[in-house]
Amino acid sequence: MSSTQSTDELLFVGKKEDLISAQRTVVSLQGRDVLIIYHEGEFYAIDSYCYHSGSSLETGDIEELNNKLCIICPKHKYKISLCDGEGLYRARDRSQSPPPLRWFSKGVKQRVHPIIEIQGELYLRPATSGYIESDYYQDVEHVNTNVTQIKTNT
Ligand code: FES
Repeated sequence: MSSTQSTDELLFVGKKEDLISAQRTVVSLQGRDVLIIYHEGEFYAIDSYCYHSGSSLETGDIEELNNKLCIICPKHKYKISLCDGEGLYRARDRSQSPPPLRWFSKGVKQRVHPIIEIQGELYLRPATSGYIESDYYQDVEHVNTNVTQIKTNT
């Protein structure tokens, strides 16, 4: 088993104080570029390249949408939950009349990773199970995928 397959493994990200100062840091861990975000007292780790078309999320605005903290991709404004990678969009709910605007989920589209603090240092536990659309833009092998994945721009 290669090191990228282990889910028990912790990868060193950096010193907590440095990551707080930087607010946003891109780290390359085992071939995967991960954006570490410090926002309002919490750390988030999300794959750096947007699932839609591979743009960097590093400069994306952060907003609370539908009770979820989201990063908004700078390129085409897709909204992605920082906690679980869910893609969100707002549209008219045609099941009601008149159709109100509301938030809908596209499901999990962007890979996120647990981040853990140990004595002032942060470590990432790489999430590698299955296939998530943002994997398409990472230079890593996804061993748990048994089917051919086709990239769709949804
Ligand atoms: S590349 Fe992110 S929304 Fe299109």
